[in-house]
Amino acid sequence: MQQTTVGVSLVGCGSARLPTILSNADLSKMVETSDEWIATRTGIRQRHIAMEQDSLSSLAASAGATALEMSALSPEEVDLIILATSTPDDLFGSAAQVQAHLGATRAVAFDLTAACSGFVFALVTAAQYMRLGVYQTVLVIGADVLSRWTDWSDRRTCVLFGDGAGAVVLRASDRDRLRGFEMRSDGALNGCLTLPYQSESADLVEGKTSQQGTFAPVSMNGKEVYRFAVKRVPEIIEKALFRADLTTKDIDWLLLHQANQRILDAVANRLDIPAERVISNMSRHGNTSAASIPIALDEAVRDGKIKPGDVIASSGFGAGLSWGAAVFEWG
Ligand code: ACO
Repeated sequence: MQQTTVGVSLVGCGSARLPTILSNADLSKMVETSDEWIATRTGIRQRHIAMEQDSLSSLAASAGATALEMSALSPEEVDLIILATSTPDDLFGSAAQVQAHLGATRAVAFDLTAACSGFVFALVTAAQYMRLGVYQTVLVIGADVLSRWTDWSDRRTCVLFGDGAGAVVLRASDRDRLRGFEMRSDGALNGCLTLPYQSESADLVEGKTSQQGTFAPVSMNGKEVYRFAVKRVPEIIEKALFRADLTTKDIDWLLLHQANQRILDAVANRLDIPAERVISNMSRHGNTSAASIPIALDEAVRDGKIKPGDVIASSGFGAGLSWGAAVFEWG
């Protein structure tokens, strides 16, 4: 195995196609809400949702396959797959199923759980293996099917989320296009946004029990999460820019986790980045958790908005609480 220090290039991206759309009008039939309320508070008009035939692994594999296609690489060339997800098909992990779906027979594959920060954390993790020369070709996938864990009778949360999967292909290169990053966690604020395990005690033998249960739907303190995001995200982007020896003036695109249009606007405003340099697909996808950054990246690249050499400041933030930023050059 090669052991030289190398850099990372982002050479391809892709996302899964989820044709079923749940509109704000549909939601208005399910809970007391309106298109006007949802659009004004969040920027969301619709979201895509997974149907019975869509497993998390199949969506992730589909995103991965389109990213490999753009990169003109075959699945057998992939050394490592990191699947960022909080909604696996299997609690033991779904990355190996993605590897099998893709036919990426040489790749080692594992899940990484960091909620809406998952994609940025996975990208940075992948880059460390590559910088050490351990792996040359890595597929980083962000995928979530939060519709499985949404309380569809809770209007405060059910209007926010959508399902999806997006992916990028990283290749070892002479020049490091991951210019800077920074990651943070604060478990003291865990209660602000959770999808907790809930169990009942079942007797095994005298004095010994097991805790059997399932996960409760997503619960969120919206105001706390909003405050956290608009304070912490600009800070961490500035730290990642500092590490990259860049300033906000050098950024071509601000690519944030698509949580809420008001968060995107507030962060851009604090960083003094004009709206035309902010990538947003909120209105069409809602919040797809770990999938939101790679889906937005994929759409912007395929639309010809993001071009090779463009500098992108990305940031994921959410449950944990966790947050992170990565500054990279596309292509
Ligand atoms: N439709 C109509 N009314 C609603 C809805 C809805 N879908 N949801 C809440 N309301 C009502 C509430 O019941 C409340 O009514 P009341 O005053 O009679 O009690 C009123 O609207 C205001 O509710 P708030 O919860 O205070 O609404 P807020 O202005 O804070 O907006 C929102 C809620 C959009 C979630 C906001 O807090 C926010 O943007 N939070 C950021 C959190 C976020 O984006 N989370 C995404 C997931 S986490 C992540 O990815 C980081």
